[in-house]
Amino acid sequence: MSTFEFPAPRVPDPSDAPSLRWGIAGPGWIAERFAESLALHGSQRVTAVGSRSRARAEAFAETRGLRAHGSYGELAADPEVDVVYVATPHTAHLDVALEAIEAGKHVLVEKPLAINAREAEQIAKAAKARGVFAGEALWTVFLPSYDVARQLIRGGRLGELTAVVGDYGEYLPPSHRAHDPELAGGPLLDLGIYLLGLATDILGEPERVLGLGAPLANGVNDQLSALLGFPSGAQATLTTTMGGFTPALLTVVGTEAALTFDGPFNSPGGLTVRTSDGETHRWEGSPGSHVDGLHFQAAAVARAIAEGRIETDERPLELSLLALRVADELRRAIGIEFPGERRAPARL
Ligand SMILES: NC(=O)c1ccc[n+]([C@@H]2O[C@H](COP(=O)([O-])OP(=O)(O)OC[C@H]3O[C@@H](n4cnc5c(N)ncnc54)[C@H](OP(=O)(O)O)[C@@H]3O)[C@@H](O)[C@H]2O)c1
Repeated sequence: MSTFEFPAPRVPDPSDAPSLRWGIAGPGWIAERFAESLALHGSQRVTAVGSRSRARAEAFAETRGLRAHGSYGELAADPEVDVVYVATPHTAHLDVALEAIEAGKHVLVEKPLAINAREAEQIAKAAKARGVFAGEALWTVFLPSYDVARQLIRGGRLGELTAVVGDYGEYLPPSHRAHDPELAGGPLLDLGIYLLGLATDILGEPERVLGLGAPLANGVNDQLSALLGFPSGAQATLTTTMGGFTPALLTVVGTEAALTFDGPFNSPGGLTVRTSDGETHRWEGSPGSHVDGLHFQAAAVARAIAEGRIETDERPLELSLLALRVADELRRAIGIEFPGERRAPARL
C-alpha cells in the first residue's frame, strides 16, 4: 500500500489578524452569513451597515449593534469604517465599490468582482489610483483545505496537470434574483464563477473557450457547460445549473495523482487523492457552511491592509479579471448579454 503525505495548511489563525472595522453594503443573504461568521470567529469587527433603505439598514443593525446608514454613499463616508464589504447583487458591485474607493475605503467585493472584465478593470484601476485595497471575496481560495490543495498542485505532487473536472448545480427557486435578467441572472456568475475561478487559478489562462447553453425566453440562461483548452494541452470540463443540486465536486487530474475536493467543493471540507497506483488517500477537513469559512478571507484582507498591500496573495485582482475574461468569452459563445453592456465584452 502506497503512502501519501499531505502538507499542513499554512493559513494563519484568523484570531491573530489585525482587527479592522468592516462596513457591509447590502444587507442580504450573504451579508447575514458574513456578519455571523465574523461575530463567531477571528478578530474582525463589523461596525456598520449600509442599505438603499434606512429601515432595512436599521433592521440589520439593531440586533448586531451596528451603525445604520440609509445609503451606500453614507456608509462609504463613515469615518469609523476601514473596509467596505460589497454584498449587493453583481450588477451593483461596480458602482458600490467605486463609491467606497473614491471615499478612500478599502473594498472586499463579493464574487464575481463585477459582471464582466471591463467593469472589473475599472475597480482594479480605481483602487490602484487611490492606493486602497481591492479584492474579490472568492472565499474558497482562503480556506485551509484549499491551501493544502494549492501546495500539492504547485509543488508538483500530482505530476503534470492534465485536467480539471467540475460541476456546480443548485436549485435556485424562481423567486431568487438569479432568475432576474436585470440582475445578470443565470448560474454563470453565482455558481459557475467558482468553477472558472478555480480552473484558471489552477491551470492559468486558456487559449480556447467552448460553451454550450442558451438563454431562455426571458433572456436568462439556466444551465451551461464549458470546455477550456490550455496551452499545456490540459483541459477543463465544467458544468453549472440553477435547476437542481449536483454533487458539486471538483477534481484536479495530474499524471501522478488526482485530487478531489469534497462536495460542495467551494466550502470547507476534506480532500481525496487517488494516486496512479489506484490507492486513495484522505485529508480530513471538517465540512462547514459559509459561517464556518467566510472569516478566513476577512482575516487575509485585514493582514494585507495592515501590511500596506493592496491585494491578497490568495486572490490577486489579475486572477479575478482572468476568470471574468473567460466568463465573457463563454457568454459570447452562447449568446448571453447582461444589462448595461453597451458593447460586447472584451475578447480574450
Ligand atoms: N460567497 C458566497 O458564498 C456567496 C453566496 C451568495 C451570494 N454571494 C454573492 O453575494 C452577492 C449578493 O448575493 P445575495 O444572494 O446576498 O443577494 P441578495 O440577498 O439578493 O441581495 C443583497 C442585497 O443587495 C442590495 N441591493 C442593491 N441593489 C439591489 C438590486 N438592484 N436588487 C436587489 N437588491 C439590491 C439589497 O439590499 P438593500 O436594498 O437593503 O440595500 C439586498 O438585500 C452576489 O454578488 C453573489 O454572487 C456570494
